[in-house]
Amino acid sequence: MNDLNTVNEATAKPVRTLPDAQTVTQVQHWTDRLFSFRVTRPQSLRFRSGEFVMIGLLGDNGKPLLRAYSIASPSWDDELEFYSIKVPDGPLTSKLQHIQPGDEIILRPKPVGTLVHDALLPGKRVWFLATGTGIAPFASLMRDPETYEKFDQVIMMHTCREQAELDYGRELVESLQDDPLIGEMVAGKLLYYPTTTREESPKMGRITDNLTSGKVFEDLGLPPMDPATDRAMVCGSLAFNVDVKAVLEGFGLREGANSEPQEYVVEKAFVGDGI
Ligand SMILES: Cc1cc2nc3c(=O)[nH]c(=O)nc-3n(C[C@H](O)[C@H](O)[C@H](O)COP(=O)(O)OP(=O)(O)OC[C@H]3O[C@@H](n4cnc5c(N)ncnc54)[C@H](O)[C@@H]3O)c2cc1C
Ligand SMILES: NC(=O)c1ccc[n+]([C@@H]2O[C@H](COP(=O)([O-])OP(=O)(O)OC[C@H]3O[C@@H](n4cnc5c(N)ncnc54)[C@H](OP(=O)(O)O)[C@@H]3O)[C@@H](O)[C@H]2O)c1
Repeated sequence: MNDLNTVNEATAKPVRTLPDAQTVTQVQHWTDRLFSFRVTRPQSLRFRSGEFVMIGLLGDNGKPLLRAYSIASPSWDDELEFYSIKVPDGPLTSKLQHIQPGDEIILRPKPVGTLVHDALLPGKRVWFLATGTGIAPFASLMRDPETYEKFDQVIMMHTCREQAELDYGRELVESLQDDPLIGEMVAGKLLYYPTTTREESPKMGRITDNLTSGKVFEDLGLPPMDPATDRAMVCGSLAFNVDVKAVLEGFGLREGANSEPQEYVVEKAFVGDGI
């Protein structure tokens, strides 16, 4: 992406011509359709864990090609992390998947979103319910001390079709136990419940089914969800969000927003019906 810079001949230093440019520091490919990457963080950027920003590259027409991305890193981190799909013909991700450390991306520093602590009433337990790349905002929230200050128990349910698609979340959860900053806060409080739906694995089934059948409560030794104690944050495909909302409402939880905190909040992991 060096063509995004020009050289100032007086100083021989590259001059940034890309608006809101940030430099890629790390890239990790998890499967042929999933990767994560880290970029430098604008000094002035403040965000609440769980929020999203617009990021992208310059399109072939020279104009920014931007998409919404949840920030996967916690608000205390020096860098920003993102977890991304690779859509084969996707305008952005067909290019973004080839980024390398040292390249630049565009990052508009205006974080927004509903998956924030402020949108939930206080409670005893918080359920993070995600499919696919919908785990990204929870990768931020699971690393935020506020999550463990506010709740006695944090349950991360993540469901994908295949086991390899769970790896990013699994490695993150495992790394939290030894984390020097929040390891002690996480111990015994974070319950992880990964499932697959198409490939055989130790735990199977859709989040909706495991909630309605009561299997997840039995497996984790928890009582069924109760609006007096349980809170939930949801991030997945539109179909998942619609179905899981009905399940949560069935337990008596009500949807909240930044302006009116309630018992659960929802955000789309992407727009569209699937690749
Ligand atoms: C609030 C919000 C937060 C988002 N956060 C993330 C994130 O953290 N990570 C991420 O990878 N994407 C995220 N997305 C989706 C992202 O904005 C882009 O759609 C995605 O990067 C693909 O861009 P594209 O230009 O290649 O293809 P697009 O033209 O944007 O999408 C093409 C098609 O691919 C499918 N698709 C797009 N994104 C996904 C996905 N994440 N999982 C499965 N199918 C998908 C949809 O069917 C879509 O119609 C988010 C979207 C929203 C609305
Ligand atoms: N994942 C892959 O290996 C793969 C490979 C190539 C292409 N694609 C395409 O990529 C697109 C996105 O795939 P994806 O796997 O990231 O997302 P997805 O189809 O939304 O599936 C992700 C997980 O969510 C579950 N799910 C889907 N709808 C649900 C609902 N209404 N309620 C509860 N759970 C629900 C799925 O279970 P079910 O399995 O029961 O649906 C799956 O475990 C799809 O169009 C797919 O065709 C996927």
